[in-house]
Amino acid sequence: MSEVYEKLMKCYKSVREKTDFVPEAALILGSGLGDYADDLKIEASVNYADIEGFPVSTVKGHKGRFVFAHVEGVPMVIMQGRVHYYEGYPMSDVVLPTRLMGLLGAKKIILTNAAGGVNYNFKPGDFMLITDHITTAVPNPLIGENIDELGTRFPDMSEVYAPELQEKVRKAAEKLQIPLQEGVYMQFTGPSYETPAEIRMCRTWGGDAAGMSTACEAVAANHMGMKVCGISCITNLAAGMSKQKLDHKEVQETADRVSRQFKQLVTEVIKTI
Ligand code: 6GU
Repeated sequence: MSEVYEKLMKCYKSVREKTDFVPEAALILGSGLGDYADDLKIEASVNYADIEGFPVSTVKGHKGRFVFAHVEGVPMVIMQGRVHYYEGYPMSDVVLPTRLMGLLGAKKIILTNAAGGVNYNFKPGDFMLITDHITTAVPNPLIGENIDELGTRFPDMSEVYAPELQEKVRKAAEKLQIPLQEGVYMQFTGPSYETPAEIRMCRTWGGDAAGMSTACEAVAANHMGMKVCGISCITNLAAGMSKQKLDHKEVQETADRVSRQFKQLVTEVIKTI
């Protein structure tokens, strides 16, 4: 058994000692959604710190726990706080929580994040349905011995973001009359924001938004056969696109400003998931 799988199984057993809740779908909360679980009737929760070997986020303000609850009747596991590659964890640790939620039973996963707008048609506060991604700036999370128990060595990635889930997001946005952009998410390592040249490269390559998470999780989820859905909150324009310098405070302020809408959108998607 590979070391990565062994660790995953250990974490799985540790969570199963604490709850027997079987989720149908998973949700990873990005900036602006951090308090999403606070309004739910929480049926169980497991702090990351109580799972032996589990990567714990070091970013301030990120809570670290799995929340188990029914949302609109759907049994969900919700990640309140994720780990990022820039924190120094190997990619296998960064995607461990995603895989764990798959093992717990989640067949679908909704990934959310805050991202910088690369497409000039975007403005801060927009939501972007992720239709595809570019991961070439970060290592592939599947590098290393393949975990045959989860999926194949060379998984297809031609439809990472399930078309039927994309359609559900479009319908949900339409119903709520929330404008929805669509585009390609490019994952960078962070923690520094990109340079203007890197953002021009991203745009030339076909990227519409730049971020520091999500794509690696989408690859790991896809590898194990989960249906993936991704929504970005465009919190700012990326480097070189405006006179404004980038800073984390602006990212958080925009995310907070539209968080009510973001929550409504995600809840509406879960209704039909
Ligand atoms: Cl401009 N870049 C990246 N990588 N992540 C971000 C961002 C930009 N804005 C918010 N998150």
